[in-house]
Amino acid sequence: MSKKPPPKQFVKTPINGTKFTLLISSAKGGVGKSTIAVNLAFALQNLGLKIGILDADVYGPSLPKLINLKDKPKSEDGKSMVPVEKYDAQCMSMGFLVDEQTPMIWRGPMVISAIKTMTQKVLWKERDVIIIDMPPGTGDTQLTFAQEVKVDGAIIVSTPQDLALLDVKRGIQMFDKTGVKILGLIDNMSFFKGDDGKEYKIFGEGGVEKTAKEFNKEFLGHIPLNQDLRNSADIGDPLTHSQPDHEVSKVFKSIAEKIKISFL
Ligand SMILES: Nc1ncnc2c1ncn2[C@@H]1O[C@H](COP(=O)(O)OP(=O)(O)OP(=O)(O)O)[C@@H](O)[C@H]1O
Ligand SMILES: [Mg+2]
Repeated sequence: MSKKPPPKQFVKTPINGTKFTLLISSAKGGVGKSTIAVNLAFALQNLGLKIGILDADVYGPSLPKLINLKDKPKSEDGKSMVPVEKYDAQCMSMGFLVDEQTPMIWRGPMVISAIKTMTQKVLWKERDVIIIDMPPGTGDTQLTFAQEVKVDGAIIVSTPQDLALLDVKRGIQMFDKTGVKILGLIDNMSFFKGDDGKEYKIFGEGGVEKTAKEFNKEFLGHIPLNQDLRNSADIGDPLTHSQPDHEVSKVFKSIAEKIKISFL
């Protein structure tokens, strides 16, 4: 009888210079991962943590735009890179490896190698947490982080729409299978508050809480669909940084307080 070969053992390499590595993910595209990654990052900074932000989306990097990064990382020895500093955060983006206008036609091995560069060759320094903004899907980037990087926790973002939740469930299962701890789920674009004070639930209601329950995960909070949040993204200064007392920043603060417990 032929024996099955043992499953491949992956070595999970930690990111030097940080105590905690946090992924912001969702298998679904366009649900607000990047928006939540940067705003949660600065909400954590407002609680006194030293933060790093890594934009891992090589096909559609957002960080340079979201925090108006103009500088490129420098390399003193031609091998390692010094992250760019902005608003007291250390920042790196896959966008630095490519021209903004160039369409990306990268194959898997190139993506994997870029992730290794970003996680092993960047001189992150004295960070309490590095927040990683993940691309959509359950492809090479997700698998590489799940199997080859020491990730301490992941947060899953979704809108309450069934269409988004179908993909999100796949994302949860992928992390569960690869042993990445899911800290919880965030419901984004939960409602729009009109001038009449009413909350309009444009993408439906309750789906993310229900999914959290179904998979035995924590539900972390509702982020409303909000124009100031969108504006701050376009200006390049996240709402939690520019207006920490804004009602939406307060929601990020409460989520930051919930997850901070995991770092300490
Ligand atoms: N709560 C919100 N209120 C208002 N606008 C939002 C909110 N969340 C996200 N957006 C806007 O929705 C769009 C998509 O958000 P974002 O780029 O953060 O999503 P994503 O999940 O990172 O997308 P991708 O899958 O392409 O990486 C952006 O224009 C962003 O400014
Ligand atoms: Mg994004």
